Amino acid sequence: MVILISGRGSNMQAMVEAGLPVAAVISNRADAAGLKYAAARGIATDVVEHRDYAAREAFDAALAQAVDSYHPELVVLAGFMRILTAGFVLRYQGRLLNIHPSLLPSFPGLDTHGRALAAGVKLHGATVHFVTAELDHGPIVMQAAVPVLPGDDDVSLAARVLAQEHRIYPQAARWFLEGKLVIEGGVVCVKGDHPQQLYAP
Ligand code: GRF
Repeated sequence: MVILISGRGSNMQAMVEAGLPVAAVISNRADAAGLKYAAARGIATDVVEHRDYAAREAFDAALAQAVDSYHPELVVLAGFMRILTAGFVLRYQGRLLNIHPSLLPSFPGLDTHGRALAAGVKLHGATVHFVTAELDHGPIVMQAAVPVLPGDDDVSLAARVLAQEHRIYPQAARWFLEGKLVIEGGVVCVKGDHPQQLYAP
């Protein structure tokens, strides 16, 4: 699998620590902290700077070329902060996963934790989903729910959610690589008796 990151890369790190076969980590920013972690573990790294491309299509074409050079069966977006073109998404349809820090379809887009607090929701969480051309949308593989507690701010809530992201994302990727994920009518099921939801206290 190939993992695309833009920054810290803690979800990528969780994948590596879970023992998943990571062929390469690619970033759209040379200063992404996660690149150092990957390189230190002997994982191939690559940078495709979005600022070097005037148009989104040209950037995505270069990115696809970099990704394809590793012949991955799975492409994982892990804090990759670029909106991808429909062409890119189509190219990897059915083998492109994303993690989003909310219980989708609530709160797609940015600032999910602040918006969850402002809405007064009592449960929040994270979602692993297959990527479609619509932002933060697509068949849901796994979700983790966490409570929103009195006194939470977006930092404490983000940390509670992130800890669960690190559990569900490697699990979802492993299911994919084991050929256990089945999408029927836009709904994802896992072959065998595996819960697709996690509740963290
Ligand atoms: C995570 O919260 C993820 O859900 C979101 O961006 C953040 C990336 O964090 N898409 P990291 O780079 O994996 O640490």
